[in-house]
Amino acid sequence: MITIHTIAELRAALGKERFKGKRIGFVPTMGNLHEGHLQLIDQAKGSSDVVVSSIFVNPLQFGAGEDLDNYPRTLQEDQAKLASRGCDYLFAPTDAEVYPHGREAQTQVEVPVISDLYCGASRPGHFRGVATVVTKLFGMVQPDVAIFGEKDFQQLMVIRRMTEDLSLPVEIQGSPIARSENGLALSSRNGYLSTEELAIAPALNQILRDSEKLILDGNSDFATIEEQAQSRLESAGFKRDYYAICRRSDLQPAGAEDRELVILAAAYLGPARLIDNIQINR
Ligand code: PAJ
Repeated sequence: MITIHTIAELRAALGKERFKGKRIGFVPTMGNLHEGHLQLIDQAKGSSDVVVSSIFVNPLQFGAGEDLDNYPRTLQEDQAKLASRGCDYLFAPTDAEVYPHGREAQTQVEVPVISDLYCGASRPGHFRGVATVVTKLFGMVQPDVAIFGEKDFQQLMVIRRMTEDLSLPVEIQGSPIARSENGLALSSRNGYLSTEELAIAPALNQILRDSEKLILDGNSDFATIEEQAQSRLESAGFKRDYYAICRRSDLQPAGAEDRELVILAAAYLGPARLIDNIQINR
């Protein structure tokens, strides 16, 4: 695997691949890679000839008081993991390479409506930062296909909408959530949890599964299901953020007549904010 730090070198290397007619698959990340990220690499390998991953802890998508400074940076371990899964190129630019005119002067990409809900409401400006950096990374890599995890379900929807709205010639693929055996969705932020908190964390997925069962059994009193789930999360030791039974097409609150649903959930556990979701077909 070749690691590249500048846009000029990236363009030169990928230009040659494109000239040979290779299809380029892209997996953007913020590093501190785990099995969830590596499954995206596997999927990219299955859908393209040359796989490019990026590691960039994007300051634009972190709010004031969030974990930008503490976000784990583990480039050497990440390089070994990517190489072991057959990734061809790692692009790891500096802040100055990505934002040469400074963050304040950067043109931004705003995906309205959907960016204001759920994670967007809890983290104002977050999805603007994500949409902006992903647009820039698409311009740098010019991939044929890009893979994103369903773990960040709302992010995947924002990127799909952005790609469509800006007519970007990139196929967007989603990839299923990778979990520990106990159901906990893998996340770089799980590393912030103590042993005690790690024992509590799987309750988030368990509560989602219990809500799924209620809904599949025919219960469509979504407001009550949401409220009971929130109080169970609190009893388990979480602090609430949101727990929302949504229509999968646009993430608006689901009605009794909707068939394709997703429950989006976020909750604070000690120093971490955990997210998870479950898709339900009624
Ligand atoms: P990051 O949190 O590093 O995640 C990179 C990709 O891995 C995202 O597409 C995310 O959904 C996926 N991912 C993380 N955990 C996963 C899991 N348990 N199962 C499946 N996929 C998982 O998401 C970002 O970085 C950034 O916002 C980024 C898109 C790179 C823009 O900065």
